[in-house]
Amino acid sequence: MHAWETSPLAAASYMPEPLILPLTATCTPATLYQDHVNPQWVRLLNALDMNVRYTRCQGTELYTEDGRRILDFLSGYCVHNAGHNHPGIISAIKEELDRCGPAMLQSHVPELAGELAEKLCTLAGGRLKKAFFCCSGTEGVEAAIKFSRATTGRNGLIYAGGASHGLTCGALSLMSNPFWREGFGPLLADTEEVPFGDAAALEEKLATKRFAAFIVEPVQTEGGIRVPPTGYLEAAQNACRRHGALLVLDEAQTGLYRTGAFLAAHHHHIDPDIVVLAKALSGGLIPCAAVLMSDHVYNAVYGSLKRAIAHTSTFSENGLSMRAGLATLEVVERERLGQRAAEMGEYMRERLSSRLSGYEMVKEVRGSGLLNGIEFGAPQKLSLRVPFEAFLKIHPAMFGQVLVMRLFRLGFLTQICSNQFMTLRLCPPLVVEEGQVDELVDGVASVVELMHSSNSYWTEALGLARRVLGI
Ligand SMILES: Cc1ncc(COP(=O)(O)O)c(C=O)c1O
Repeated sequence: MHAWETSPLAAASYMPEPLILPLTATCTPATLYQDHVNPQWVRLLNALDMNVRYTRCQGTELYTEDGRRILDFLSGYCVHNAGHNHPGIISAIKEELDRCGPAMLQSHVPELAGELAEKLCTLAGGRLKKAFFCCSGTEGVEAAIKFSRATTGRNGLIYAGGASHGLTCGALSLMSNPFWREGFGPLLADTEEVPFGDAAALEEKLATKRFAAFIVEPVQTEGGIRVPPTGYLEAAQNACRRHGALLVLDEAQTGLYRTGAFLAAHHHHIDPDIVVLAKALSGGLIPCAAVLMSDHVYNAVYGSLKRAIAHTSTFSENGLSMRAGLATLEVVERERLGQRAAEMGEYMRERLSSRLSGYEMVKEVRGSGLLNGIEFGAPQKLSLRVPFEAFLKIHPAMFGQVLVMRLFRLGFLTQICSNQFMTLRLCPPLVVEEGQVDELVDGVASVVELMHSSNSYWTEALGLARRVLGI
């Protein structure tokens, strides 16, 4: 899911009367998109001054038709860990196509799926011994819900406040933000929220023995890049075990070395029952997701001949995705991108913290590996507080969206978190170079200086409000 979709889209969705922004009249592939796919998305990008045509994307760099170079600090929401269009992954996919093998026969044993599952389970370790493949994070979460219920014989599911697990009905039942839920009818019953980081609240709910699983992101992403307090995930796991529930980690964004380790779970002493991987798994080129599980879970779901295909999907183990997954793992291992994420992430946080210290609206720089965020807060100074609060009233995403627009103008693609608009997320491809991080730090520092010292930041917000909200 895209943070775009709640922050700027939230802005669009709350508008009383959608303002019709001018669309170009000539018939180009872009106008076909706006005619037949999603015209509101085009309008939104136009309003944000971010509707550019990308002609080439390589590593961390995006080049546009009008000759701009943009550094990607969003990575398609943690899809491009290996960098855009990695030549090694592209050539592996081409080879797979040329092989003319049984890409999607669905009546055979797909050997590549076995190879990929073995590698993933080995890298993940612990009790994770089997894999189910699918095409998206939300599909992975749906599977995890079903598998947890089948394993425990219970229906209830616990999730953390601020979480983001996808937009299909089951996954959406694990996200409390009304923006995402409204209008889509009743979701799953028996889902309950606990505050992220509060082990006692979790224990209290689990003690009712109604719950099949606690589903949690080991670092909350859309919730504001929130790293859990020390000992929280261990305590959560212990509570789950004590009360017969499963610990399910949603590592759709945090997995594949984003935080420095293969799984963010590896920074903790935990051994989850189920892990969902998605996004970066196939190099940003072919959709692929995986649900890793213990033998205990596997047996509960598939444990007899009759149940051999109890949960499956048409594109589940398709050859191209499996090949892309294998090639991606080879690249991230060979290029030691985990170590790079850890080192470069620390460097980024240090540089940002020192450059931004003293600015009253900068609350915190935080993160893990190359999953980082800057949280902004309300200013004290009256001259800043008045416009800040006025724009907060117009729309809570307005402040952050102007920040994103300004950064884009300077050549950096970023976004704010979709369930916490005051946090700017910074998650470049793991191949990002030190010089590129330095460029970003300079860019962020210049925009932060502007928001503290010049009216133009707030004038820009007014312009955006007019364009998007029609006020
Ligand atoms: C933590 C997490 N889980 C699941 C999803 C859903 O993934 P997808 O968009 O591939 O369905 C997302 C999407 O952003 C996510 O951030």
